[in-house]
Amino acid sequence: MQNATTLLILGASGDLTSRLLLPAIGQLLEREPERRLMLHGAGSDAWTDRRWKQTVREAFASTESDDQFDRVADTTYTKADVTDRDALAGLLKGITGSLVIYFALPPAVTAAACAVLRDLKLPDDTVLALEKPFGGDEQGARDLNALLLQIVPENRIFRVDHFLGRSTLLNILGVRFANRLIEPVWSADHVQSVLIRYDESLALEGRARYYDKAGALIDMIQSHLLQVLAVVAMEEPVDLDEIDLRDAKSAALRATRIWDDNAVRSSRRARYTAGTIDGRKLPSYVDEDGVDPDRETETLAEIVCEVRTSRWAGVPFTLRSGKALRDKTAEIVVTFRPVRHIPDGLTGQPADGGVLRLGLSPDRIELELNINGGDDPFALRRQTLSTRIGKSTLQAYTEVLSQLLDGDVALSVRADAAEECWRIIQPVRDAWARREVPLEDYAAGSRGPADWATSH
Ligand code: BG6
Repeated sequence: MQNATTLLILGASGDLTSRLLLPAIGQLLEREPERRLMLHGAGSDAWTDRRWKQTVREAFASTESDDQFDRVADTTYTKADVTDRDALAGLLKGITGSLVIYFALPPAVTAAACAVLRDLKLPDDTVLALEKPFGGDEQGARDLNALLLQIVPENRIFRVDHFLGRSTLLNILGVRFANRLIEPVWSADHVQSVLIRYDESLALEGRARYYDKAGALIDMIQSHLLQVLAVVAMEEPVDLDEIDLRDAKSAALRATRIWDDNAVRSSRRARYTAGTIDGRKLPSYVDEDGVDPDRETETLAEIVCEVRTSRWAGVPFTLRSGKALRDKTAEIVVTFRPVRHIPDGLTGQPADGGVLRLGLSPDRIELELNINGGDDPFALRRQTLSTRIGKSTLQAYTEVLSQLLDGDVALSVRADAAEECWRIIQPVRDAWARREVPLEDYAAGSRGPADWATSH
């Protein structure tokens, strides 16, 4: 049996805890029978222990891990203002052994709680886990990082990006580095373009309070898709540990700029209007509860980046994500340059030299090849080899949580990477704030504005 780790969740009565964190904890306990966990929740709502236990039980049931409930049955809940010194000290009292403090809180409250935590005595190997967004801009991220470092060292700070726990994202490592077919052609010499796309059919889901201030650019591109770009574009790490893997990712991010340094030409934004998705009628974004139309929050964003290294210079990396779109399309699309020459006699000039498509959800790999044969044996046509890998998206959170509870920060977003991601998108935010990029419309349930290319 392992020593017990105490997981103290701040913001325990919030949506994130019940929707993502607790189901993942149930799944984790199912998967790791040796793991011992003491679970404590604290939040601003006046919940009883009974209500909390019910929440934990239901969350476990949602991942069919009901039978794990007994392993955390003495879980407790405390109503507390976690920005209050005495309240926070009270929560920490009596905790011995490994402690993970999970901030399932909005960034400003997290920062305020950390400012208090700085002056409190914590068990030696305490780990701090934070949810995105990490700060509100580059300087905000720097300030938050400096504050966190006054509490624990960087290797005990876990900035959670559940995308980094996705099996497909981790699979990029194997696909890229373990295949003679792919490893040598992973560069501007052979790759024409890269598209990282996360289109969702989900809309606002009652999250206006957060989303209306974030928008698609921050909610998805800054927080997740740039991390995906880092894994796609990085040089080979010597090891997949917290140093080498994160050094390689950070180096890729440091080399990343908005294409042509021109945020006006290299970004687009749009917002959904009323429409229907899967028979479900959706109001216009601006008519959703809690939305302030004057904020001009985009629900679909696209930016084009360049990774200025000898490996990637000249290859556009397009990052796109939006809500209330017709289909969920989550993928990394690597399009290869056309071959230099095709023998006379083969007909049909392909536009590219093949495409590798890594589906992020559902997880799958597809290889589109130009082939001939069939009724017209010398005509080129497209054939796709496709296979599904892995499954549920929830496992991403579970994977991250497992590493977090082990104190392994390899999959955590390192301080400098969090700052770089803000730096990369800042020119876009500035151009949008100056209204230099029009806010376009698309009907909910459509594929986005008609003239936005959906593949590159
Ligand atoms: C979250 C965003 O971080 O990621 C959500 O805040 C988004 O807006 C979600 O829907 C997408 O990830 P997943 O794994 O739920 O598809």
